[in-house]
Amino acid sequence: MIKPSITSSAPGKLMLLGEHAVVYGHPCIVTAVDQRIQVSVRKNGVDVFHMDAPDLGLTAYSKTICDLGKKELPKGVRFVELLYRRFLDQYPQKEGIVVTTKSDFADTFGFGSSSAVTVAFAKALTTLYNLNLTNKQLFDLCYQAVLDVQGVGSGFDLAAAIWGGTLYYIPPAKVVTKLKVNHLPLVVGYTGIKADTPTLVRMVAGLKDTKPRLITSIFKNINHLVEAAVVSINQSDWTGLGDLFNQNQQLLKQLGVSSTELDRLIQSSLKAGSAGAKLSGAGGGDCMIATYQYDQSKSHIESAITAVGGQVMPVVLNAPGVRVE
Ligand code: PMV
Repeated sequence: MIKPSITSSAPGKLMLLGEHAVVYGHPCIVTAVDQRIQVSVRKNGVDVFHMDAPDLGLTAYSKTICDLGKKELPKGVRFVELLYRRFLDQYPQKEGIVVTTKSDFADTFGFGSSSAVTVAFAKALTTLYNLNLTNKQLFDLCYQAVLDVQGVGSGFDLAAAIWGGTLYYIPPAKVVTKLKVNHLPLVVGYTGIKADTPTLVRMVAGLKDTKPRLITSIFKNINHLVEAAVVSINQSDWTGLGDLFNQNQQLLKQLGVSSTELDRLIQSSLKAGSAGAKLSGAGGGDCMIATYQYDQSKSHIESAITAVGGQVMPVVLNAPGVRVE
């Protein structure tokens, strides 16, 4: 007999301001993206962990639960398997589970498929065992797993997947405040290049070692921009927010994390009438964001991004956080 399953889903994310500085304890602003990952979990009566995640390039993966985390783990299973191991350390079980996932989005755009799958799995798993975790407890479980996998990260993406909406965030979930937003007038452009976040985070860490005063002062300036952006967003002052985006982009360029492709998409958005544009996330590729004032200026900016080789991503922002389906 097939046992009952629990399905939950979590959204992706888009960093608005404060990337890199947030890794060093400064605040950032992040919004949840309506592209979701669904994860279903059920008990299977044997001591085996089984996972099917065709969208993450993984089918019929299985392992006995005493071997979790051992040997080289395929990319698609890392976050789920190491989270499950953490879970079993805290809540030991003899019986294993079957996990299946279904994704609205490819992992290439930088919308946080790893954080979404981690959070959706954690929610489904803890619900299956009737554990009523708070958002912060769910965050702590997920954050441990993320650090197990990649060693670095502020957890901003997990917070977006858990709480949803548009958040002012201080790591690791020390402060999570929802901003008053109905609509964020932003165009999102994809460069066509996949960025490797841990590599860029380590590059900035190296820079901080060699030029500590310069990098510390850049982080402080980013911190001020984030604080100012909270006011702009709460007042729906999109021109003001655009100006802060431009200043944040200059600081990210000083950190050396922008790229020719990002700069090209950003410049063409500004020429097409955007009040402000910047890279979003670690840099080196992935996406950029640009503010717009009216629907007409939105389509000008979108055409300008496409004209220089970017791909406009039709995403809805400020999406709801994790939920049991
Ligand atoms: O590349 P993304 O979208 O995952 O963003 C990374 C943001 C960083 O601040 C560079 C890293 C982090 O964990 O906060």
